[in-house]
Amino acid sequence: MNPSKIIQGLMRLDNLSADNLYNLITFDLSNGINYFDISDIYMNGEAEIKLGQVFKKHPDLREKMYIQTKCGIVKDGDATYYDLSYEHIVNSVENSLKRMNIDYIDALLLHRPDIFLNAGEVAQAFAFLSQQGKVKKFGVSNFPHEMMKYLYDNTNIPIDINQLQLGLGHMNLIREVFNVNMDNNDGVEHTGELFFYMKRYGITLQCWSPYQVGFFGGSIFNNDSMKEVSLYCDELANKYKVSKCAIATAFLLKLDDEHIQVITGSTNPEHVKESVDGTKINLTKAEWYTLYKKAGNFLP
Ligand SMILES: NC(=O)c1ccc[n+]([C@@H]2O[C@H](COP(=O)([O-])OP(=O)(O)OC[C@H]3O[C@@H](n4cnc5c(N)ncnc54)[C@H](OP(=O)(O)O)[C@@H]3O)[C@@H](O)[C@H]2O)c1
Repeated sequence: MNPSKIIQGLMRLDNLSADNLYNLITFDLSNGINYFDISDIYMNGEAEIKLGQVFKKHPDLREKMYIQTKCGIVKDGDATYYDLSYEHIVNSVENSLKRMNIDYIDALLLHRPDIFLNAGEVAQAFAFLSQQGKVKKFGVSNFPHEMMKYLYDNTNIPIDINQLQLGLGHMNLIREVFNVNMDNNDGVEHTGELFFYMKRYGITLQCWSPYQVGFFGGSIFNNDSMKEVSLYCDELANKYKVSKCAIATAFLLKLDDEHIQVITGSTNPEHVKESVDGTKINLTKAEWYTLYKKAGNFLP
C-alpha cells in the first residue's frame, strides 16, 4: 500500500466522539486517504486515546492505515519546552503505543527542534525503537536545514520526512527561493534553503495547516487579506470543475511529483473530499505562479 498524497490530520478532534472518528476514518479510507497524522501533544494525549478507542473496537482497521505520531513537546504546568533526549523519545513512543492500543507506529516525527538535541542520543533511540519493531520510519517536523544535516551525518537511520507549514496563506519556505540577492526582506532566509535540501535527498515534505493564514490566522477561504487569491482560486475552480480547496491543494502538490503530502486538519467529510479532488488537478506553470503572486508574494 502506497502512502496517500492527502493525510488526515487528527489535531482537532475535540468535538468528535470515538464513533464519529471511526466514521471519519472509514470515509477517508473509502476516498483514498490511508495516512493519519497525530501527536502525543494533541489534546494533551486525548487525541491518541480517542484513536485507541477506535482501534479497540475495530482492530481490523489498523493494517489499512499508516499511523504517524510525534514526540518532543513537553507541557509541564505553565512551562512548555522541547525535549529530544533518548529517555523522552523512547518513553513517549511507549506511551503513545499504549494510548493508541497498537503495537507499532509507521512513522515517528520529532515534533520541534530541541536546541539541546544530541544526534548520538537520537540515533540510539531510533535504533532501539527500530530493533524492537516499534517504529518503522523516522522523520522530523519544523526542523531547520543544518539540524537535519547534523542528524543525517550522525545517524545511520534515514530521516525521511520533514513536516512544515506551507500553503497559500504561509509561504516562507519557498518565497526566499525567488528572492536570493534581492534588496528586500523576502530574500532573508527563513528556512536555510531547506526546500531544495529536502528535494536533493528525497525527503518528503508534509505541509501542515495548508489552508491556514499565518500560524493560526483562520482559513484562507474567508480571510480579507486573501481576497485576491481567493477570487483567482474561484476562477480556476470553475475551469477545473472542482472547489477552491482542491486548487489550493493542487498548488502544493505541484511542487514535487513524489515527495510531497498535504495534511488536512478538517474533520468535515465534504472539506476532506475537496482536498482529495486536488490530487487529480495538474495546474499549469502560469497558473501556479499567478497563485503564488496573488497570495501576496513578490516575484522579481
Ligand atoms: N507539525 C506541526 O507542528 C503541526 C502544527 C499544526 C498542525 N499540524 C498538522 O496539520 C493538520 C492540519 O492543521 P489545521 O487543521 O490547522 O489546518 P487546515 O486543514 O489548513 O485547516 C485550517 C482551516 O481551513 C479550513 N478548511 C479546511 N479544508 C477546507 C475546505 N475544503 N473548505 C473550507 N475550509 C476548509 C478548516 O475548517 P474546517 O475544519 O471547518 O474544515 C480550518 O478552519 C493537523 O491536524 C495536524 O495533523 C502539524
